[in-house]
Amino acid sequence: MEWTKERRYKRLDETEEKEIHELSKRVNECPWRQKFHIQPVTGLLNDPNGFSFYEGEYHLFYQWFPLGPVHGLKYWYHTKSKDLVHWENAGIAIEPYDYFDSHGAYSGSAIENNGKLYLMYTGNTRDENWVRKPYQCIAIMDLGGSITKMNKPVISTVPTGYTEHFRDPKVWKAGESFYAIIGAQRFDETGCVLLYSSPNMMDWQFEGEINTNMRHFGYMWECPDYFEINNKGILIFSPQGILPKEDEFQNIYQSGYLIGDKLDLAEKNFVHGSFTELDRGFDFYAPQTMFDPKGRRILSGWMGLPEIDYPTDRYGWAHCLTLPRDITIRDNKLLQTPVSELKKLRGEKITVETIIYGIHAIDDFHGESYELIAEFTEADADEFGIELRVGEQEKTIVKFEKATKKIVLDRTFSGQPFAEKFGTIRKCHLDAEKIKFHIFVDVSSVEVFINDGEEVFTARIFPKKESTGIRFFANEGQANLRVVKWTID
Ligand code: FRU
Repeated sequence: MEWTKERRYKRLDETEEKEIHELSKRVNECPWRQKFHIQPVTGLLNDPNGFSFYEGEYHLFYQWFPLGPVHGLKYWYHTKSKDLVHWENAGIAIEPYDYFDSHGAYSGSAIENNGKLYLMYTGNTRDENWVRKPYQCIAIMDLGGSITKMNKPVISTVPTGYTEHFRDPKVWKAGESFYAIIGAQRFDETGCVLLYSSPNMMDWQFEGEINTNMRHFGYMWECPDYFEINNKGILIFSPQGILPKEDEFQNIYQSGYLIGDKLDLAEKNFVHGSFTELDRGFDFYAPQTMFDPKGRRILSGWMGLPEIDYPTDRYGWAHCLTLPRDITIRDNKLLQTPVSELKKLRGEKITVETIIYGIHAIDDFHGESYELIAEFTEADADEFGIELRVGEQEKTIVKFEKATKKIVLDRTFSGQPFAEKFGTIRKCHLDAEKIKFHIFVDVSSVEVFINDGEEVFTARIFPKKESTGIRFFANEGQANLRVVKWTID
């Protein structure tokens, strides 16, 4: 059945139980359901929203279209957790049934205010000619977890000079004031972010555009985020319309950061270095961060991209969120490591130390979902690395090439092919001798953290269930290998 406008914009409360039941049945037959990632019960998940800590729990909402694997009428879906590891589905948080969000409760963020959790999001609307009009809206969650939408938007107009592409507010508090940055497009079709301020989360004033040195960098900046670590300012955003450049910007849309001096809120000046991609893999977009009670800056991203068909589509669902990452900075670079709580997932452990040359399968090393840390040292091999989810004709390769000093992730033979138009190999330069791969493999994904978070490569993969092999290799030479693996069930 075709995804007509009517089907895409059908409301859940106008959908028969039977349709939802049949859809969940199809979803549950999917061989690629994840074990330890946040994924939708049915339909499509995209951006993480409202990532926050409130009343002793982490709250992580996401963009959700319940009725199929397409971008239709978006809801906010609510998940919560005490430990960032075990997430509970808490149901729909925001329904897009008002005049100011009739075509989607789009992305936004959350902040605690007066003992309640304020959700600020974009209400997406379309008129009869399908012309878009965005509103910035508020919904408030109380101590008991019930969420009430304000009956009118808090920002109803787009400032002069900008188009209707104006969305994804990210809020924070500095001193007594609240601030929000919102992704925008100028009239000349270039992307930027706009700054607003508010004394109370209800009355918002337009402060102006944030001045960066990236006047011409894509046609729209989605999902901006701003925070500070060690007196540095970090601006994250997801620009659209960037062309590939050598190993960079290979995906349909990008996500990255600028790091610089703290944002000058009065002058709206941000003095910063160059744009760096947050993730070097294939499936990563629209990340959002939060500051947690342990003093950490934690990031979660959408493990997927817009406008790409995925192999799970035919089972009626698509996408998941990445594992939460702990963000720190060193030498003007963001480091990203999996949050330490993820150790709770560790099951049976095996450790092996060996010297490898050529290709090695190690007894008992196999699995469909696991954590693995492999350290290669004293390598004189031309290249060395790991093959994951190996089957008769399948493998996903991560490796280091000595001559080019590049980390490579190759999903050419990972399983069911998709998005091949954007290439099946990703690479990134890394100036190092010793390489540590810290890998999380779930049923249909890999997340590879290199050298304690210097780089991260994320990819969805769709191998056969039987493809569970793990092999290590060193070509044209040898390397010392120390590897630890834990099952995750
Ligand atoms: C990014 C995005 C946001 C928007 C949301 C809609 O993936 O396009 O800009 O708010 O998704 O689901």
